[in-house]
Order: sequence, then structure tokens, then C-alpha cells
Amino acid sequence: MIRLKLETPSLTLNHPVPHDISTISEDTCALETRNLNVYYGNFRAIRDISLKLPKRRITAFIGPSGCGKSTLLRTFNRMNDLIPGVRVEGEVIFGGYNIYTPGVDAVEVRRRIGMVFQKPNPFPKSIYENIAWGARINGYRGNMDELVEQTLRQAALWEEVKDKLHQSGLSLSGGQQQRLCIARAIAIKPEIILMDEPASALDPISTLKIEELMRQLAENYTIVVVTHNMQQAARISDYTAFLMMDEDRAGYLVEFGATAQIFTNPREKATEDYITGRFG
Ligand SMILES: Nc1ncnc2c1ncn2[C@@H]1O[C@H](COP(=O)(O)OP(=O)(O)OP(=O)(O)O)[C@@H](O)[C@H]1O
Ligand SMILES: [Mg+2]
Repeated sequence: MIRLKLETPSLTLNHPVPHDISTISEDTCALETRNLNVYYGNFRAIRDISLKLPKRRITAFIGPSGCGKSTLLRTFNRMNDLIPGVRVEGEVIFGGYNIYTPGVDAVEVRRRIGMVFQKPNPFPKSIYENIAWGARINGYRGNMDELVEQTLRQAALWEEVKDKLHQSGLSLSGGQQQRLCIARAIAIKPEIILMDEPASALDPISTLKIEELMRQLAENYTIVVVTHNMQQAARISDYTAFLMMDEDRAGYLVEFGATAQIFTNPREKATEDYITGRFG
């Protein structure tokens, strides 16, 4: 069994956001893909994507429906393993190894790279258990009440649920359920959190709460978010990756850079057309 390198927990990263994504070093890179291709059977959904995700920053993935954003996100933590017929070529480097190397434990990868989905999906258990369960199966031995409180505070949910911790997670509103899912993800102390359209099923106020929460979490975690909402990408992300489909419907990376640059001064015409709404 391969031991992936651990992140030093005390490492404080105060690196300025480099304008040029190519200057990201090994120390400031959370995960890297090299010549990544993803197939569903004979269909190539992702074509030759190489990129580096900056540590403790928010990277947004934008692009038209079907261009492979969710597929790409799932390759970052081997979630695609669970989908029949998927084949991944190329490398995803995390913890010093290609996570697709035989001998890498996919369960460890998914513990260290958590995921939050579009539709809130709390366990049909109490609010408390939604947090405690993952921690317990990962061998947490500390004070569980403290962990639950601390995690719910980090997810900006504590004040709303502290008097009903033993009610079902499903009794919460959609926005609260999504914050509970984020709390559940951070309870097991991942290094990266992948979020696939985490606010698209929520009302505007809940959406703003999730956005604020993401900004707070980015102080400690690397966050990757797929969004269809251009304003949201511009508001919350440090970096933006724009994907499009080629003539064979394979998704490829058109442009990746600092969000301010992508939105004010895109290098590619296709990016400009997309963000200004000239492309549907
Ligand atoms: N389980 C699957 N089996 C076969 N093809 C799939 C599967 N999942 C996705 N695809 C195909 O892969 C391509 C990329 O899909 P994906 O869901 O990654 O796109 P997306 O960018 O997330 O789209 P959206 O913005 O609509 O969520 C599409 O052509 C889709 O039909
Ligand atoms: Mg998707």
C-alpha cells in the first residue's frame, strides 16, 4: 500500500495570489493533473487537461453544460471509480503520487479530498450524527460534543441548530442541509473540498451564506467549485478555469488564470464570449 505524503498541518500559507498560474510551486500546489483524459466507454469526455490547483485558494470551473466539469471534478478524488465504464488516462498528483497508481488507497484519497454535491444529501440521521459518524469511522478519539460544536460553528450553522442537535438532518431547510453537508465534509479534516454547483438548488440568501462560508473555509482548505453562475465565480474565486467542448464533444481547458484576469482581460475570444453571455 502506498503512503501518500501528509500535508504539514501547521504550515501557514500566506502566499500572495500569483497572477500567473504557471508560477505555482510544489509548495503551493494542492493537486495537479497531467495530460488527463477521461472516457465513458469509447466516448472521450475530458481531453488532455493539465492544471495545478493552488493550495488554500478557491478555484472555480465554468463552462457550458456537458463540457465535463463534473467528470473532471470526480477524477480529483477518484469518485469516478464508482461509475461503471469510466477510464482515466494521465495523472492526478496528490500527496506526491499519482492517485491512480495501483496501491493508492481510494478511501484515503476520498477522506483527504472531500466532496459536496449539488443537491444537499444529509444522512437520514440526526444533525449530531451527520457530523459524528464520519469522524468516528475515521478513528476520532477526542471529545465528540466538542468536535460537533466546533464543526457546526465553522460551517456557520451552530446558532441555528444548537437546540435541536438530535433532530433529523432532513428536517432542516435546503440551505441549512447544504451547510450541514459542508460541516460533514470538514468534520473529517480534508485538505481539499470539491463542490459541484453547491448553491444552485438554493435561494439567494442561502446562496450568499454558502459563498461567505466558502471564503472563510478557503483560509484552511483548498476549494474547487463548479458553478454556472458567472457572478458567483467572479465574487468568490481566486482562480477560474474555463472549459469547452471540441467538435467531438470532449471537454478541454480553454483558459485558466487569476479570476480577475479571466473576467476583465481574457486571453481567448471563446472565454470572453462565454462570460459575456454571447455563448449559450
Ligand atoms: N455516467 C456517464 N456515462 C456516460 N456518459 C456520461 C456519464 N456522465 C457524463 N457523461 C457524459 O460526459 C460528458 C460530460 O458530462 P458532465 O456531467 O461531466 O458535464 P458537466 O460539464 O458537469 O455538465 P453540467 O453543467 O450540465 O452539469 C457529457 O457528454 C455527458 O453526457
Ligand atoms: Mg455537472
